[in-house]
Amino acid sequence: MPRVSFVNGQFVRHRQAGVHVEDRGYQFADAVYEVIAVAKGRMVDEELHLERLERSLREIRMEMPFTVGIFRLKVAELLRLNRIVNGSLYLQVSRGVSPRNHQIPSAICPSVVMTVRPMISPPQEMFEKGVSIITVRDIRWRRPDIKSVALLPNVLAKDEAIRNNVFEAWQVDDGVVTEGTSTNAWIVSKGTLITHPPTNGILNGVTRRALLKIAEKEGASIEERPFSVGEAMVADEAFLTSTSSFLIPVIEIDGEKIGEGTPGPVSRQMMALYNNHVWTEDA
Ligand code: PDD
Repeated sequence: MPRVSFVNGQFVRHRQAGVHVEDRGYQFADAVYEVIAVAKGRMVDEELHLERLERSLREIRMEMPFTVGIFRLKVAELLRLNRIVNGSLYLQVSRGVSPRNHQIPSAICPSVVMTVRPMISPPQEMFEKGVSIITVRDIRWRRPDIKSVALLPNVLAKDEAIRNNVFEAWQVDDGVVTEGTSTNAWIVSKGTLITHPPTNGILNGVTRRALLKIAEKEGASIEERPFSVGEAMVADEAFLTSTSSFLIPVIEIDGEKIGEGTPGPVSRQMMALYNNHVWTEDA
């Protein structure tokens, strides 16, 4: 069965799916996106993703190109056509197509693209044994809170991680760990969960938001505040979160063991709670 994608209102064969060469997303990264997990046919934290999409669009002076009702219908159709029950949905909204010019055109129609694929979870071993990461300098623009497709610094940092045989790179700005290349960063110190506050300096991850709510409900001690690389190095535990990785324990940073060098009890508890949130209908 051929894969099908959604391009500007049409369902098209994935191999032929494309946008114009003068799409502003292509030429200027004038576009924003979302990645949404699909578990048992249901979009995980759909509301939070749509809220963030609307915010990203607002920040680049665009409006939502569809209603929630239409969005749900199109996603359901796309999942059905691709026979996907557990997967990942990629949604991109660009400013649209126009002759190349920095000035934002006044009359322009947004390009809306959606692709789906089966869920590609990291190997089970990563959840059980944890992963190593490195730190790199955060060289991104000052608005990574906008989920823009301008991801070149993230791509290069991830490449550096891969070249160093580790899973992820935590970006560091002025000594402070901001976030990973496609994940949010957490440490656990004396039983307290610590993660960067949702400033303009990080992407406010949906997984991050969902986990904060879950942890709060569990009565966990939480601090949303910046933490340094030094603090992370001496933390009891560390982990990362994202739509595609869920929650993965971090057991080594820049070659130094974190805690015992194995996934700690708080990380394991949060991992179980988050899994339950993903796979349970009413969670
Ligand atoms: N990445 N930080 C960055 C820079 C990200 O790109 C992402 C998501 C996150 C985690 O956000 P969320 O929990 O909403 O997935 C944090 C997605 C998955 C991606 O680009 O593929």
